[in-house]
Amino acid sequence: MSPLPFSACAAPADRRQWLRGLAAATLASTSLRAAPTPEITLRFSHVVAEETPKGLAANRFRLLIEQRSGGRIQVLIYPDAQLYGDHDEMQALQLGAVDLLAPSLSKFGRIGFPEFELFDLPFLFEEVADVRRITQGRLGQRLLARLSHQGLVGLGYFDNGFKQMSANRPLLAPADFVGLRMRVQASRVIAAQMRALGAHPVTLPFSETRRALASGVVDGTENPVSNFWTQRMHEVQTDLSLTEHGYLGYAVVTNQRFWMSLAESDRALIGQALREALAFGNLIADTQNDKALAALHAAGTTRIHTLTDGQRARLARAVEPVHQALANRIGLQWMDDLRQALKQRLSG
Ligand code: SIN
Repeated sequence: MSPLPFSACAAPADRRQWLRGLAAATLASTSLRAAPTPEITLRFSHVVAEETPKGLAANRFRLLIEQRSGGRIQVLIYPDAQLYGDHDEMQALQLGAVDLLAPSLSKFGRIGFPEFELFDLPFLFEEVADVRRITQGRLGQRLLARLSHQGLVGLGYFDNGFKQMSANRPLLAPADFVGLRMRVQASRVIAAQMRALGAHPVTLPFSETRRALASGVVDGTENPVSNFWTQRMHEVQTDLSLTEHGYLGYAVVTNQRFWMSLAESDRALIGQALREALAFGNLIADTQNDKALAALHAAGTTRIHTLTDGQRARLARAVEPVHQALANRIGLQWMDDLRQALKQRLSG
């Protein structure tokens, strides 16, 4: 109801009616404008930029949750290591300072789950669809279940894609790596891969990588193109070699105590929204990496090298011993299960 203009109200009774109308209209417009007060806030911290597969999947998750809960559940996203980085995010999750993380699978070995480093084995997966058959099969589910040993709940996997190598020279053959200081994630498998190529691995948090490249603390690194581009590493690396030598993917984790404190219906709502957001992330991952590569071509700062099959085969041969050498760290049973899963994939 819209109130009459005050000048139209001659008698006091009319004025009272005008005031009542005004009060009712004010109340109605206030309640239309006011956002519902969230009952639950999910703090989601991650280390990459928003324009990456992970950043976009996290944003999709927020949208789905807020729509479906009518604003009752709020998602606050902290990208780009704004809140926590590689060193402290797991501890923050365990202490309840954040509620959701999506670390790369390579970062679980350091906190006591070396079996996750099987995803880092170089030249193991031919294409992302191969990885998904592992992550969405029994082996992947058993790995997530392991996280309960540290009070964590693994809610799902999703992809970034295949990693490429960068430096201030082309990296096309094992000899090109010799003596280079290569930034790596905290994964012994990735460190061993760099050593097998004759490089020195230097473990650094993701958020410090660009600065370390710019200052010459390290000479090169590896990552899918979307991470390389959004961190502006192309401004400090003259060459990107499209080696596709290894996979980068993520697991979304939450704190068990926090998770079990939620109503079952909210866990179902969050779980469903997350599954859809992760499927969305998988869908756009290739496109985001392709877009980043196109942007990199257009920027013209960095020479981009495509390897021949023979060059890739020589790199693969050089790092082959890593599979055997790190089998004990990953766990012989996990390695067997991995081989079985890959065999089924090949025969199926
Ligand atoms: C990420 O994609 O989450 C970061 C990967 C890295 O640390 O290299």
